[in-house]
This record gives sequence, structure tokens and C-alpha cells, in this order.
Amino acid sequence: MWPGWQKGFKQPVFTGLFHQFQAFSDVSPKPQHPMSTDVNMTSQSSPSSWRKFPITQQPDYPDLEHLQEVENRLCALPPLVFAQEIRDLKQNLADVAAGNGFVLQAGDCAESFAEFSANKIRDTFKVLLQMAVVLTFGGRRPVTKIARMAGQFAKPRSADFEEINGLSLPSFRGDIINAADAEPDARIPDPERMLRAYNQSASTLNLLRAFAQGGLADLHQVHRWNMSFVEASPGKERYLKMSERIEDALGFMEVCGITSQTAPSIRETQLFTSHEALLLNYEEALSRIDSFTGRCYNCSAHFVWIGERTRQLDHAHVEFFKQIENPVGVKIGPTTKPDDLLRLIDALNPANEPGRLTLITRMGADKLHQTLPRLVRAVQKEGSNVVWSSDPMHGNTVKSSSGFKTRQFDDILSELNQFFAVHQAEGTYPGGIHLEMTGEHVTECTGGAYKIADSDLATRYLTSCDPRLNADQVLELAYLITDALKQARPEDLSR
Ligand code: PEP
Ligand code: CO
Repeated sequence: MWPGWQKGFKQPVFTGLFHQFQAFSDVSPKPQHPMSTDVNMTSQSSPSSWRKFPITQQPDYPDLEHLQEVENRLCALPPLVFAQEIRDLKQNLADVAAGNGFVLQAGDCAESFAEFSANKIRDTFKVLLQMAVVLTFGGRRPVTKIARMAGQFAKPRSADFEEINGLSLPSFRGDIINAADAEPDARIPDPERMLRAYNQSASTLNLLRAFAQGGLADLHQVHRWNMSFVEASPGKERYLKMSERIEDALGFMEVCGITSQTAPSIRETQLFTSHEALLLNYEEALSRIDSFTGRCYNCSAHFVWIGERTRQLDHAHVEFFKQIENPVGVKIGPTTKPDDLLRLIDALNPANEPGRLTLITRMGADKLHQTLPRLVRAVQKEGSNVVWSSDPMHGNTVKSSSGFKTRQFDDILSELNQFFAVHQAEGTYPGGIHLEMTGEHVTECTGGAYKIADSDLATRYLTSCDPRLNADQVLELAYLITDALKQARPEDLSR
């Protein structure tokens, strides 16, 4: 057993691993010596400053030289996303903050090396688009799609050790860090895994970009998938009317000459990527200075968020997020105090820039009413520009009688409905949802129109982490929240 893995572990201070790199243009990379100080000459940002702060939820790599060598290799690799795309997303989110749009952020709890296939990516992409069509039509506003994909590999854990078959093992922290196999060697953190995660993210992005531009995103096609879902669903009556109206709208547009051939917006879409920026060695190594603006962008994803467990004001994650220009999210749990939230907002968005900060509330259906109204009021009073998004998954995890970690469809729906109701009551705008889902037909969350019972969970319980909504459940959810979304009119903001 190697030493460490303890909470509060402080990273060794390497300086200047980060180097100048074109974050947006086609100019070839010019890696500098790791100790170069030029970084501070071109940007005020210091993406390695987090190393001086206390940090939790990090691996304790046994070989620090190996770690540094991998970080250097990552630094020299091309960025996964580009600064201009990141700016586009920030603009979309600024529109959402003003009530003119909605954010759909969804995907796997954790991506895995073993479960990596084109079909799996395609299926998740399809369901994301299907949901987006329902929400766009039902809510009558543009939906910005952000996948929890192409980088969602690191997981925060509630305990540093876990018991498996009577054996106490260091926790599995996601494929970017260690392996899930129930043996001590598998749990030793291996920096090479960061390179594998980078490569898998690059292939995933390549496919997502092709799907988004290459015909799979055609609105007519997506609508046909939705019709098949509705036809087969036991909840058919509830969804049919809206699907028929979408059919009519598409028919009308076609008659007017707005078709896949004539309008790119009918046949293409834009999909952004996101993940929890938990493993800061990886995130720093993929940060680049944009030659256009001289600002620092984390080019591992368009949008990154800080988890509920790592958002301490004086800790490393908040420090790292202060250095990057990306739109960022922060998860907000049920124990959050209004003053602490205001301090966090101030740290992460000192210029009160619209689109920069998304607050992702994850309260639990039974706790939301106690906490959310107070937080919303405090933020509103302060005049902070934020996007409010609801993650109805992470506050609603329970252990089923059959022993599986699960979530009940009705709890998830209830948290979403309460989220919309609180914002309506407070005159603020509910700007998005954040879901853990998969395009596969898994049985991990109970309930829904197919009435998945506790006793069904064992049939297809495939997650290596948290229970995800399956394709049917997640589409049902989209249909069921459209009324609440429609009522959340942007005009409400001027009240
Ligand atoms: C997650 O989104 O996978 C997660 C761990 O969330 P939270 O930080 O809200 O628990
Ligand atoms: Co999760």
C-alpha cells in the first residue's frame, strides 16, 4: 500500500507546467520550457496557482516524476475545444441568464474506458437531441445542449476507502485515475490514465462533431425517433398531442421552403461538452492562453463545473476556476448558506459577467423547499447574474431494498417541478436542467411509465457509478416538464 490518499492532501508545488499555446487558431503549438515565466507576461492568469492551496478528492500519485512527465506530454497536445467555441457557449448562457433560452446538460455519471463505443456515444447523442426538440418546442425557446461527455472521467467519493467482499480498498476515483477492479494494485493511481482519457475524449468529440454536422442531427430525423418513442410508450396519451403538433410545425415549415436542404439549422446542431473539473493536474495541463485575447481557457471542455465536495472558497478548485475564462458551474447542495453562496459567486464571477456562472442546485426533493427560496432571494437581492440550473439526481440517491444505489423517477420529477415553482414564485428564471442519463436501456432508476421496480434493478444495472435515467425515462421527463418550462416566461424576470 502506498502512503497518503488522505483528505486534505496538498499537491507538491510545481511551477509553470502550464505554457503558452494557441487556444483557438490553427497556428502550430509552441511549447515552452516548463519553467518559462512568459506565461505571466501574456496573461494575468496562473493556472498552476491552485497547487499552493489545500485540496481534497485528489489521487496521491506514487511516482511524481512520472506524473510530471505525463503533464508535460498533455501540455504539448492539441486543445480539445477552442476558445471561440467557449466564447459562443458563454454568449448562449448569457442569453439564458436573461431568460432567453434554456440549458440541457446531460450524460453519463462517469465515462469509462471499457464502455467506450461509437454506438454508446451515438445513443446518448440521439437522446440528448430528442429531449432538446421536446424542450425547444414545449418551452418555445432555444435550448443549448451541453453533453456530460468527452472528459467526465473523475469522480469525487464520499469515503477514501471502500469495502468490497470483505476487503478494504482505496476508493475507485474514475478511469482517469485508477481502475475499478477489486484488487489493491488496480486502485493505485496511474498518470498514464490521463493520456488515455484525453485520447478517448478526442475520439468522442470527433464523433460528436460529425454527428452534429453530418445528418444525424436533422430535425425531421430526431422527430421520427420521438414519434417511435411515443408510439411505444405506456404513457403515449400524455405525449402524443405535443408530438403531433411538432409534426404539424415541421410540415408547415416544409411548405414554406424551410427544409433540411435549405436551412442548416434544420439539419445541423451545436453540441458543447462539459465535465466536473476535479483532477486539476489534467485540467491545468489542458489550459491554454488564447493568442487572440491573451486570456486563459481550459480547453479540456467548453464548460466545467466544481462539485459540491470541492467548492470550498479557500481551496484549490475555486482558485483554479478563478484563472480560466470558460463558463463554469458550481454544484449547490441542501446545506448551502446564502452568505457562503454570495461569497462563492463573488470569487467566481467578480465582474458579474452574464453567462460566466451557472448555479446547479442539487437539493433532494424533500429538502429543496427549505433551502432554495432563501438562496434565490439572496442572489436576486445582490443582483448577481447567474444561470439557475437544477440537478435533480444527486440529492435523490437512495439504497433500494434489493441493495442497489438508485433514484426514483417521481423524486427526480418532484425536484424539477419544485425548482420551477420556486423560481416562478420568486420572479427568477429557471434556466436549465442537469441530468445523469444514458441512451441505453438500463434499469438503474426506478419508476417511470415502464414502472421499473426495485426487483427489476438487477436486470440491466450497468453503471460504474451513480444510477442513470434510461432513454425512455429521460424523454418522459422532458415531456413532463414542458408545461412548467412554458410558464417560466422570460417576462417574469422584469417583475
Ligand atoms: C456529479 O455530478 O457526478 C456529482 C458528483 O455531483 P455533486 O458534486 O453534486 O455530488
Ligand atoms: Co453522479
